[in-house]
Amino acid sequence: MHRNDFLKSGGVLLACTCGTSVLNGCKAITGNSDTPLISENAYTINQGYLVLDLDRIPELEPDGGSVKLELTSRDLKIIVARTGKNSFVALRDQCTHGGREVEYKHDESIFRCVSFGHSKYGNSGEVIKGPAKTGLEKFTTSLVEKKLEIKLV
Ligand code: FES
Repeated sequence: MHRNDFLKSGGVLLACTCGTSVLNGCKAITGNSDTPLISENAYTINQGYLVLDLDRIPELEPDGGSVKLELTSRDLKIIVARTGKNSFVALRDQCTHGGREVEYKHDESIFRCVSFGHSKYGNSGEVIKGPAKTGLEKFTTSLVEKKLEIKLV
């Protein structure tokens, strides 16, 4: 194969790859979240409440810390962030644009989709920047001593 033929075929391949990615948007280009998953022994579910044992979750000690958990029996993923000394936010961990994960950005006080579109949500789950058009489900939280209660229903 001559150099020009090789470059032409490579150019076609590159154009196809980029074109496919643009057409599929977030479904094709995804990022990964660095937010850690907490272990199953760090929480319980009791009468519609998810109760996090903060003594077992050191990631939530500092302001700005965040963790994730997945309740497979409920097909539910949640991200929990410590937004201040005694304030926490729990949101459904599923971007409403394409279903990707979100992560907490404490320096901006937002939750941002890890995918290409980078939708941004505020601490109430509201959309700050699209392409997402609807907000993330927010769960009511209350801090009772060293337990964080998250109302699931
Ligand atoms: S999945 Fe597209 S911006 Fe989140």
